[in-house]
Amino acid sequence: MGLRESFQAGLARQLGHPNGLRGRVVGAMLNRGNRKPITEAVAALGLAGGETAVDIGFGGGLGLALLLRKAGTVHGVEISTTMLDRARRTFRRELAANRLWLHEAPITALPLEDGSADAIITTNTVYFVADLDGAFAEVARVLKPGGAFVLGIGDPETMSGSPLFTEHGFRIRPVADVEAALARAGLKVRHHERLGGGQIGFHLLVTGRE
Ligand SMILES: C[S@@+](CC[C@H](N)C(=O)[O-])C[C@H]1O[C@@H](n2cnc3c(N)ncnc32)[C@H](O)[C@@H]1O
Repeated sequence: MGLRESFQAGLARQLGHPNGLRGRVVGAMLNRGNRKPITEAVAALGLAGGETAVDIGFGGGLGLALLLRKAGTVHGVEISTTMLDRARRTFRRELAANRLWLHEAPITALPLEDGSADAIITTNTVYFVADLDGAFAEVARVLKPGGAFVLGIGDPETMSGSPLFTEHGFRIRPVADVEAALARAGLKVRHHERLGGGQIGFHLLVTGRE
């Protein structure tokens, strides 16, 4: 494996599961690189204040910070202990005030009660999830009826043009396939927003439980 390939393989691994010192650098990089989609995902929830909101696979934690500005209680769910540690350091006050709760768990087994969340986001995570139906079933279980779920994914066509994503196990799914999986979980797409301007285009699927 050449230098370029091994760098890309390492970066791809870190994006899927940030770990150790490199993972901490990747966390900061995610907050910068994904600022726009994360900000738009939180805005699309239409929070009025006081809600219970969840960010699944929060990475560098920007989504948690933005949700904490609007919602009453925020849950962050992650599989990466490096990202959980980073969030514990960043949000000491919010954790102490019981406004933020952090959970080490995968999207396919959310440690949250049925119908307990008004609003859920997950951005740039489903490329690492094999069981999309299982993941969306969990989101639908945790979401209150009438609640909002915003899913953010990179544009599959653009991603398919980059070896970083195609050669290292990212699951790049057509938007229509993702929408079909959402529908199977009872999550109806209310709005499909396309974001440009970054290195890759972005799709926000604003959905809800009927
Ligand atoms: C590319 S980062 C995206 C982070 C952030 N949401 C953003 O948009 O910048 C993917 C994150 O999802 C987490 N992740 C990967 N698989 C997951 C799973 N099955 N359940 C929950 N989180 C997962 C990773 O640990 C990583 O922090």
